[in-house]
Amino acid sequence: MLFDSHCHLNSDELFFKYKELIKDAKNNGVEMILVPGYDFISSKRVFDIIKEKNIFGAIGLQPEEIEKTDIDALFKLFNEAKENKKIVAIGEIGLDYHWEKDEKKQELQKELFIKQIEIANKLKLPIIVHSRDAIQDTYNILNTHRPLMGGVMHCYSGPQEMVNSFIKLGMYISLGGPVTFKNAHIPKLVAQAVDLNYLLIETDAPYLAPHPLRGTQNSPSNISFVATEIAMLRNMKLEDLENITLKNALNLFGIKYED
Ligand code: NI
Repeated sequence: MLFDSHCHLNSDELFFKYKELIKDAKNNGVEMILVPGYDFISSKRVFDIIKEKNIFGAIGLQPEEIEKTDIDALFKLFNEAKENKKIVAIGEIGLDYHWEKDEKKQELQKELFIKQIEIANKLKLPIIVHSRDAIQDTYNILNTHRPLMGGVMHCYSGPQEMVNSFIKLGMYISLGGPVTFKNAHIPKLVAQAVDLNYLLIETDAPYLAPHPLRGTQNSPSNISFVATEIAMLRNMKLEDLENITLKNALNLFGIKYED
């Protein structure tokens, strides 16, 4: 059984067909999916999608969306999360300096990241962290504002040397489509070196479709390409890799598979 720990069935690209995609995924052995929010609308949609069996959600504000979304409305949603057992994390949250070079705006990203870590701690939920071209600041914030229930570094792209520092802060490491790309040296290194007890897998659909589907619209069914590549890199049985990443996800998010 596979668990896609990061899949945007709530995106404009997938939301209108999420039921179909869930059915498809289940037919392909992907029985569990976690859907993270990234702004107000996508977080609101999560509440609908998690009515499906074995589909879980997270809500949060992703740094790239800060200027485009209704932050007050989103923060009100955090109160609703308290009442809903299938909201199992706060995310995705974090820092993105790839698209944001303005220092003042980077400061705002940091502020909102910290605020949402504090909310997660209050709600006793783990966090899902997005970090792009900002790994040192991400680490510094997590180190000074510890996520009490841990979390996951989503689509971790390095450096490999920092993997254990994040694990020490209670973070899991999640790998997605890039680990299958031929030129993706760092994700492959991470896949080989990471402590298996802290590894999750994800699609990040509709983005980052794995090789050989690179460039197409990604879907949760494609998680098998990620699992197969990592099993190969680690020279282990696919089934064992599936089982351990599933167990890790259930542990981190405090959930069970419902028969
Ligand atoms: Ni995402």
